[in-house]
Amino acid sequence: MRLAHLQIQNFRNIENIQLTPVKGVNLIYGDNAAGKTSILEAIYYLSHIRSFRTRHVTDLILRDCSYLQLVAKIETPEKHIIPLGIRRSRNKSEIRVNKQPVNRVSEIAAKFPVVAIHPDSYTLITGNPGQRRQYLDWGVFHVEHGFFQAWQRFKKSLLQRNAALKSRQNADVCQMWNKEIRNSANYIDQLRQQYFVSLIPYINELIQLFFTIEKIEVEYKRGWPADLDLLELLDRNLQKERIKGYTYYGPHRAEISIKGNDQSAQTFISRGQQNTLVALMRLAQAMQFTEVTSRSCVLLYDDLAAELDEKHREMILSVLTKMNIQLFITAIEKQQIDLSAWHVKEMFHVEHGSLSTSS
Ligand SMILES: Nc1ncnc2c1ncn2[C@@H]1O[C@H](COP(=O)(O)OP(=O)(O)O)[C@@H](O)[C@H]1O
Ligand SMILES: [Mg+2]
Repeated sequence: MRLAHLQIQNFRNIENIQLTPVKGVNLIYGDNAAGKTSILEAIYYLSHIRSFRTRHVTDLILRDCSYLQLVAKIETPEKHIIPLGIRRSRNKSEIRVNKQPVNRVSEIAAKFPVVAIHPDSYTLITGNPGQRRQYLDWGVFHVEHGFFQAWQRFKKSLLQRNAALKSRQNADVCQMWNKEIRNSANYIDQLRQQYFVSLIPYINELIQLFFTIEKIEVEYKRGWPADLDLLELLDRNLQKERIKGYTYYGPHRAEISIKGNDQSAQTFISRGQQNTLVALMRLAQAMQFTEVTSRSCVLLYDDLAAELDEKHREMILSVLTKMNIQLFITAIEKQQIDLSAWHVKEMFHVEHGSLSTSS
């Protein structure tokens, strides 16, 4: 999959631009506040229907406008073109795939896998477990079939059980969904594990390259103790859970634990190292995706030069050149990024939300 064409309208400081990226590397450069990150954010938004910078759509819509619009052409590995479109106002969202309206974000996401690395990447380590679950599930969703349906099934029964717990229903009412929860939970765990086992060699290889002193460990935690059956836990904790009003154990509590020298990476490694580590975890994800599915994905790398010293910048660039991805990099000066290893490349200059191509 690659982005063949994109029109961005009323998004951040961008009124209306058209972008025809190449298959290899696309360098977007320009002064501070020109709109570089906004372009990457628009590409990310198209795939996730959410930003990596804000949770509020009003932040994204150009000031004094009523809606934002993104219209894209995605090229499949078979060279088919899939038109995607999003129009988002403050209270309404319209998504179109192949010119047909769709209701689910998953339908657009499945067509267009995008990974982003940006200066706030470290929040994957410092933020809540939900963010790390999102990281994991991006890959499970794109690589393992059946995950989305299993997750929907699980969520439905979990919501019903939680509602029963909250309203202090009788024990037998609260327990009605246990079997369905256990079955979908086991399946979700199996798919996550399968994915993680396939991903971890990629992560470890990159970690060994970049972290030579620290011992970094990344581990999957399924959300309930390894030696216990979830059904038993649901039974055993019922009284406590009726007081709390929610189900404690399950795949909704899954985690990725990240440690440096056996201590939590939240406190043990520096902010810069946290950013590098997350960048490596996301690179690993993109690598695993392209190798396992034999499809390419899009990688957005915001402010690559600002984030890394020269040695590490060169190392990252050399990793990137070997990957079968469509790459978007931003920088202030075009000289900051050495693109000589790429055959297929394009440079875009951004100024006050406008774009020009400059090769
Ligand atoms: N909703 C909005 N409407 C208009 N301008 C915005 C909006 N959101 C952000 N901006 C402005 O867009 C500009 C571009 O930001 P950004 O893409 O982060 O620039 P860069 O990454 O090139 O430094 C900034 O000046 C910012 O203040
Ligand atoms: Mg920026």
